Amino acid sequence: MRTLCEIRNLSVTYRGQTIPALNRIDLDIVTGERLAIIGESGSGKSTLARAVAGLLPVGAKLAGKMRWSSGQPPLPGRDLGFVFQDPSSSLNPVLTIGEQVAEGARRHLGLSWREAYGHALKMLERVRIPEPDKAMKAFPHQLSGGQRQRIAIAAALAGRPGILIADEATSALDMVVQAEIVSLLDELVREAGMTLIFITHDIALASGFADRVAIFKDGRLAEIGPTGHVLSSPKEPYTKTLIASHRDLTTPPLIREAAS
Ligand SMILES: Nc1ncnc2c1ncn2[C@@H]1O[C@H](COP(=O)(O)OP(=O)(O)OP(=O)(O)O)[C@@H](O)[C@H]1O
Ligand SMILES: [Mg+2]
Repeated sequence: MRTLCEIRNLSVTYRGQTIPALNRIDLDIVTGERLAIIGESGSGKSTLARAVAGLLPVGAKLAGKMRWSSGQPPLPGRDLGFVFQDPSSSLNPVLTIGEQVAEGARRHLGLSWREAYGHALKMLERVRIPEPDKAMKAFPHQLSGGQRQRIAIAAALAGRPGILIADEATSALDMVVQAEIVSLLDELVREAGMTLIFITHDIALASGFADRVAIFKDGRLAEIGPTGHVLSSPKEPYTKTLIASHRDLTTPPLIREAAS
C-alpha cells in the first residue's frame, strides 16, 4: 500500500465564515484505491475535493498539510481529473464535444490537434457514447444529461490523469443511468490503475465498489475504513443512522458480502 497523499490536520475556512468547512482532517489517500467520501449536504465533501485538487476559491484559508508522494501537488487536467455534479460546470456550452475532449489530450499529452481529435473519438467510444462521430461535432445541449456526464468523464480522463475526483458526478441522474456511470467509472479506473475519489451522499451507491469509505459530518472525518468493515461494524452513531436509512444495506446478502 503506497500513500499518494498524506493529509494532516487540514482545515479550510471560506472567506467571511467563522466556522471551518473542514476541521482538522487526517487522511491518507492510497495510490490506486477507490475511496468514497460520504456525508450529508454541507459536511465538507466538496471542500475536501477542491482542497485536494488545489481548486479552492480565492480567499479560502487552508491550514495543515498535504504531502504528496510525488513531492508536489497534482496539476489539474494533467495529473488529476475532476468531474462535477453538474456537467455544465465541466463542459463549455460554446465548444463542440470533440473540441473540449481533444483539448485535454492536446494540452497534456502533447498531441497535435489531429492526433488529439482521434484520441478524443476513442475516449467517446470508451465511455460508450452512441454514434461517437456525430457526438464529436455536437454541442453539450444537444445531448442527454447522462451522455453529458459521460462526456465530462471522457474530458476529465483525456489527459490520462492518475487521479480522478468525481464530486456527486451521478447525483443529478436517474438511478439506472447512475448505476451505469458508476460501473463505467469503476471499469475505467480499474483498467488504468487510477486513484478514484468518489463523492456521494449515497452510502448504498458507494458501497457497491469503493475499497474504503470515509464518512464526513460537520466538517469532520467521523469515520474511515474498508467498506465492508464500516458497513458491518460502524463505530459512529451517524454512520449507523446512514446505514439504517438504507434498508438494502441492513438486509442480507450485502452485509454478508461486505463483512467477508
Ligand atoms: N465558496 C464558499 N464560500 C463560503 N462558504 C462555503 C463555500 N463553499 C462551501 N461553503 C460552506 O462550507 C461548508 C461545506 O460545504 P461543502 O460544499 O464542502 O459541502 P458538501 O458536503 O460538498 O455539501 P453538498 O452535499 O451539498 O455538495 C458548508 O457550510 C458551505 O455552506
Ligand atoms: Mg458538494
